[in-house]
Amino acid sequence: MKDILKVEGKKALITGGTSGIGRATALLFLEFGIDVAANYSKNDEKAKSLVEEAKGKKGRLITVKGDVSDYETVRRIVEEVIKEFGTIDFLVHSAGIPTPQPDTPENWDKVMRVHLYSCYNLEKFVVPVMKEKRSGKIVIVSSLCAHSTGKNAYSCSMAGKICFAKGLAKELAPFNINVNTVSPGTIFTPMLEYIPEEERIKMTKENIPLYRNKEGYPKGEEVASVILFLVSDLSRHITGQDIIVDGGQFIHY
Ligand SMILES: NC(=O)c1ccc[n+]([C@@H]2O[C@H](COP(=O)([O-])OP(=O)(O)OC[C@H]3O[C@@H](n4cnc5c(N)ncnc54)[C@H](OP(=O)(O)O)[C@@H]3O)[C@@H](O)[C@H]2O)c1
Repeated sequence: MKDILKVEGKKALITGGTSGIGRATALLFLEFGIDVAANYSKNDEKAKSLVEEAKGKKGRLITVKGDVSDYETVRRIVEEVIKEFGTIDFLVHSAGIPTPQPDTPENWDKVMRVHLYSCYNLEKFVVPVMKEKRSGKIVIVSSLCAHSTGKNAYSCSMAGKICFAKGLAKELAPFNINVNTVSPGTIFTPMLEYIPEEERIKMTKENIPLYRNKEGYPKGEEVASVILFLVSDLSRHITGQDIIVDGGQFIHY
C-alpha cells in the first residue's frame, strides 16, 4: 500500500510518554516505525514496563527522565535525545498533572510550571532543531477543560497551551513546522485511576455520546490516533488548530 502517513524512520520526543495518553502515543508511533524518546518525571517502574512493552515493535524506544517544567533539565533532555537519535522530527507534549490540593499559590504555580512553562522550555530547545531543517510537527496535549469556564490552575494552564500553540504556529509556518493542540475529554488513564471501574462506566455512558453503545470507556488510544494523524503527512495543511477529542462530551453538555 502507498505510504500516505510518511512517518516511518522519523524521530519523536514525547513528554509524559510513559503513561496514559503519551504512552499510548509512544506505542502507536513505534508500531508505525517512528523512533520514540519517552520522557517522564518520577515513575521508573512505568518507564521500565514501557521498555518491555515496546520490545519487537518497528521503532526504537529510549526513555528520558526529567522534569519538563525546569529549563535546564529540558536542555539536558533534548541533548540526550539528539545524541541518541540525531534529530527530533516530532514533539508531542503530553506531560501533565492533576490539580494538586489545596488551592494555594504554591500549587497554582506548580500546575502552571508543569503545563505552561514546559511549553516555553521545549520551544527554546526543540524548535531550533526543527527550524534548521525547515520541517517538524509539534502537538501539545491540552484539555477539554480549556474550553470550560473553570478558573482553576488546570483549566487556565490548558487554555494557555492553546494560545501558546497558535502563536507558535504562526511564527513557524514559514519553516514548514506545524503546531497544533489536541483537547481530550475524559480519558481513563492513570491520572484518573482513583475513579472506581463501575463509576468510570457510569460516567462514560452518561456523558460520552460516542460510547453510549460501546463497551468500556475511552483510554489513551482514542487520543493517540489523532496525534498520529497530526504528525503525519495527512495533516500537512493543518496548523494553529485545536482538535477536541471527546466522543461528543462537549456537545452533550
Ligand atoms: N486523562 C484525561 O482525562 C485527560 C483529559 C484531558 C487532558 N489530559 C491531559 O493530557 C496529558 C496526559 O495526561 P494522562 O491522562 O496521560 O496522564 P498520566 O497517565 O498521569 O501521565 C502523565 C505523564 O506525565 C509525566 N509527567 C508529569 N509531570 C511531569 C514533569 N514535570 N516532567 C516530565 N514528565 C511529567 C508522568 O511521568 P511520571 O509518571 O514519571 O510522573 C507521566 O508520564 C496531561 O497534560 C493531562 O492534563 C488528560
